[in-house]
Amino acid sequence: MAEVDVRLERVTKDFGETIAVDDLSLDIAVGEFFSMLGPSGCGKTTTLRIIGGFEEPTRGTIYLRGRDVTDQPPHRRDVNTVFQSYALFPHLNVFENVAFGLRRRKVPHDEIDARVRNALKLVDLEGFDKRKPGQMSGGQQQRVALARALVNEPQVLLLDEPLGALDLKLRKQMQLELKRIQQEVGITFIYVTHDQEEAMTMSDRLAVMRNGRIEQIGPPEEVYENPQTQFVAAFLGASNLIEGELKEQRNGTSSVRLQGGDVVQMPSDRAPFQTGVDVLVGVRPEKITIAPENGPEPAAGSNSVTGLLRMSTYIGVSHQYKVEGPGGHEMTVWVQNLGTDPAPTPGERVRLSWQREHTFAVLPQEGLSLEEEEE
Ligand SMILES: Nc1ncnc2c1ncn2[C@@H]1O[C@H](COP(=O)(O)OP(=O)(O)O)[C@@H](O)[C@H]1O
Ligand SMILES: [Mg+2]
Repeated sequence: MAEVDVRLERVTKDFGETIAVDDLSLDIAVGEFFSMLGPSGCGKTTTLRIIGGFEEPTRGTIYLRGRDVTDQPPHRRDVNTVFQSYALFPHLNVFENVAFGLRRRKVPHDEIDARVRNALKLVDLEGFDKRKPGQMSGGQQQRVALARALVNEPQVLLLDEPLGALDLKLRKQMQLELKRIQQEVGITFIYVTHDQEEAMTMSDRLAVMRNGRIEQIGPPEEVYENPQTQFVAAFLGASNLIEGELKEQRNGTSSVRLQGGDVVQMPSDRAPFQTGVDVLVGVRPEKITIAPENGPEPAAGSNSVTGLLRMSTYIGVSHQYKVEGPGGHEMTVWVQNLGTDPAPTPGERVRLSWQREHTFAVLPQEGLSLEEEEE
């Protein structure tokens, strides 16, 4: 890894009985776009506040570029924060909002002027300097908040669900903007969100958090394609988990007998468990093809199960199918809308097939259900 920018070493934060952050260790590289992703209450904000110096850890150490800053107040850390609530000064215009911190630090006028204009250019708000926050949209106000943080040229920028208040379309647009800005300035971004798509779109690496701990950390593709736990499989997109038993491992291939009797296979490194254990077999919805049950046999080397098509939803670019699969488990299938094959209709018996390489297994985790958890 490149030079470490932010290091958390065995950080714990208790609030009375609540363990908000639980013995968490983490390295974030210089210039990395790093996201902490997880459901509400898993400790994302607390971790961010500990990095920013707004919260003192109960135990553990925080390093910035190798310097122990655990006992340093926020202003002694080269870190800025952008929150979901923009907290702009309503009576000041855009320029003065962005210039505020620099003026307080008695930065020379010329320099303030240059730096503020540069920051506004970066967030695509040139020409807006005289506007008041009340005369701008939510997205524009969030850009001002971002410019206000970037103008300080911090080493690390912390962002706590900064797009949470925006509507979906604007949020998607801002995700790309944030990524572009981060690449342009090269500052380390630590981004907190409960929105998996957001984290996947922007991050170089992400950490999926649960109960104050990191469940899995890695590049988005790796975490998505190769989830290591049931929680991660279910939190990052629909996962289609089916109960089964690991039956055999031979020549690098593992076989699992699913509830209902079907046997599926996968590379053994995607099911790194002992034979005989109960596992959950997963496959991502976009990896599956759907065909009539009595159609042609699936290609050799692929897995296949049969089920009853319950629901078909047209979503423009794709169709989403809900199928009652092995053991009565609901499976989700996404099929790109090429407009060639006729869409199967609910009530039909169907065959779902996918490649072995796209199959993974995880161990069942206590306290998690197999039903989709809706946000
Ligand atoms: N100041 C506080 N006092 C007491 N409990 C807190 C405080 N801040 C956070 N918590 C608790 O710590 C846990 C983690 O909270 P938080 O870090 O805000 O989670 P997230 O940002 O992932 O939603 C939650 O159970 C929350 O209720
Ligand atoms: Mg939070």
